[in-house]
Amino acid sequence: MASRARDSTFEEVRASGWDEVWQRRERSEAIGMLRIVQEVRVTIASQGDIISARHRGRLIAEESGFRFSEPTLIAAAVSELARNILRFATQGEIIFRLVENELKHGMEVIAVDGGPGIPDVSRAMQAGYSTSGGLGLGLSGVSRLMDEVEIVSRVGTGTTVTSRKWMR
Ligand SMILES: Nc1ncnc2c1ncn2[C@@H]1O[C@H](COP(=O)(O)OP(=O)(O)OP(=O)(O)O)[C@@H](O)[C@H]1O
Ligand SMILES: [Mg+2]
Repeated sequence: MASRARDSTFEEVRASGWDEVWQRRERSEAIGMLRIVQEVRVTIASQGDIISARHRGRLIAEESGFRFSEPTLIAAAVSELARNILRFATQGEIIFRLVENELKHGMEVIAVDGGPGIPDVSRAMQAGYSTSGGLGLGLSGVSRLMDEVEIVSRVGTGTTVTSRKWMR
């Protein structure tokens, strides 16, 4: 069920000029085409869904060859993204993808919702910034736990957080 996708739609979205976008990449080369090897989608609409998404993320990470603490770190990122979906958008989806290119294999965790959107994404990425009375450590945590994070959000339309971790 291999399909091909661009490495990222991020540049296209930014070129469109009016979405709130934010990106952080570590150890990034120009990656070119990224192949999606496998994809699993999990609906998030309840506390129980957060727990099962977290569990599913850990299992997929383990089965795909992440080692040591890496599945736990990925599961923690899944948990934060799913918590935000439930809290801010009420419902949405977590998409797990195993991805590869000529150089490396990795896992993508994508959180998609059709909620209120984030007016200032770079502010939302700052540790300690919260509009919910939370600690404001969720999104900044995801950025530390994963190797790459891209956020596209539009007020009134929704938010997509794409995160990746590469196998070492
Ligand atoms: N999916 C989303 N839809 C709309 N706004 C969001 C979404 N995710 C995050 N935000 C905004 O970004 C802010 C920062 O998110 P973050 O996860 O870091 O903090 P939090 O959820 O408020 O608190 P914590 O995660 O520490 O419990 C949120 O307070 C909210 O304003
Ligand atoms: Mg949060």
